[in-house]
Amino acid sequence: VDKDGTRVFDLRMQAGSTEFRDGAATPTWGFNGDHLGPTLRAERGERVKVRVRNTLDEASSVHWHGMHLPARMDGGPHQMVGAGSTWTPHWKVDQPASTLWYHPHPHGATEKHVQRGLAGMFLLDDENSGRLALPKTYGVDDLPVMVQDVTFDGAKFDHGHRFLANTGFLGDRTMVNGTLDPYAEVGDERVRLRLLNASTARIYTFGFDDDRAFDLVGTDGGLLAAPASMNRVQLSPGERAEVVVTMRPGERTVLRSYPWRDGNGWERRFNGGDDSFDVLQLRAAERLRPSPEVPGRLAADRGLELPDADDAVRSRHFELRRSGINGQPMAMDRIDETVTRGTTEVWTLRNGGDMTHNFHVHDVQFRVLDVNGKRPEPALRGRKDTVAVPMGATVRIALRFDGPSDPDVPYMYHCHLLSHEDDGMMGQFVVV
Ligand code: C2O
Ligand code: CU
Ligand code: CU
Repeated sequence: VDKDGTRVFDLRMQAGSTEFRDGAATPTWGFNGDHLGPTLRAERGERVKVRVRNTLDEASSVHWHGMHLPARMDGGPHQMVGAGSTWTPHWKVDQPASTLWYHPHPHGATEKHVQRGLAGMFLLDDENSGRLALPKTYGVDDLPVMVQDVTFDGAKFDHGHRFLANTGFLGDRTMVNGTLDPYAEVGDERVRLRLLNASTARIYTFGFDDDRAFDLVGTDGGLLAAPASMNRVQLSPGERAEVVVTMRPGERTVLRSYPWRDGNGWERRFNGGDDSFDVLQLRAAERLRPSPEVPGRLAADRGLELPDADDAVRSRHFELRRSGINGQPMAMDRIDETVTRGTTEVWTLRNGGDMTHNFHVHDVQFRVLDVNGKRPEPALRGRKDTVAVPMGATVRIALRFDGPSDPDVPYMYHCHLLSHEDDGMMGQFVVV
């Protein structure tokens, strides 16, 4: 914290190497280290500043995924950090407690930069989250679980795309926080897992090997109004879920990723939909510290702070295709949509094509209104910045644009399957 009370972070993008398996050094990139990045943490109301230094030999950027902030601080493709240079964005945190993350966003090379290891979590706290009886001791009963899939070719990563896989890169194994065959020792009766799908293309359906129920307590942009008990939660690339799991003394249980629950057979077969993985083993101590019950009410008095479709002054339609959104590939110098500051809109996302996509919007947390005309399932009822739009699906979302206006610098919306994004499934909007 500097003298005017601003919380200052230093992030140095660097090249290095990591020994994932004995004796095999894999070239990797990281923030402040050889692979991945530190968890940043700030509180609502705080001013933050990040000194991003790029020591790589190519330009990159750092985007604060899920953060509500001015467009020129967003770290998208218009805020490139050249090789050897420094970029120092700053903003005031003004959104509820949540599990956000950061990663590069150079147009056309995001998949590569994320796969090499540039990703980290950015956690936000607020008064409400500080008071709630949820597990919250970082690294003890509150664990970051960043899931990525990977394939090794000898000592190196193999980032090649598989035959007929149109979602992009699909690895043959998963790692958590950059660790293969990971386990976590749990000393408390309840443990909170902050699940982040930081993979570039793979969609996970998380659940436990004994099918136990867990409580979903938060989605991309914050806590739910109330916990929702379930035994599977699906995350497409970029999405997060906070879950609380109850453990029995001495037991072991494995968080797995299961085959997709739906989707067409062809699509599943070639795009990882039939795969399953052991993601993370939880090992409970013989004696567990008792944890309080998960509170029945989670969100603060201000509620979820989600926009209301009744307030919408405008609707827009987005046709999601591999070749581009609304028929056009991304162009850096074209503004696709202009929204009015302080207004609410309803966006219809339609995937009429023959492959899976999702949709992410910078700066905002939106409400999912319906999926194929039906009320969304509990995992889609909270604050969201990314949503899956399966083949043939129509998803409607309500968004409110209440940040500062800036006619000159756009925010992005895009498919978060990174090879699709890189190939142009992205558009730009300005808030005026
Ligand atoms: Cu996580 Cu525009 O990205
Ligand atoms: Cu983002
Ligand atoms: Cu896509």
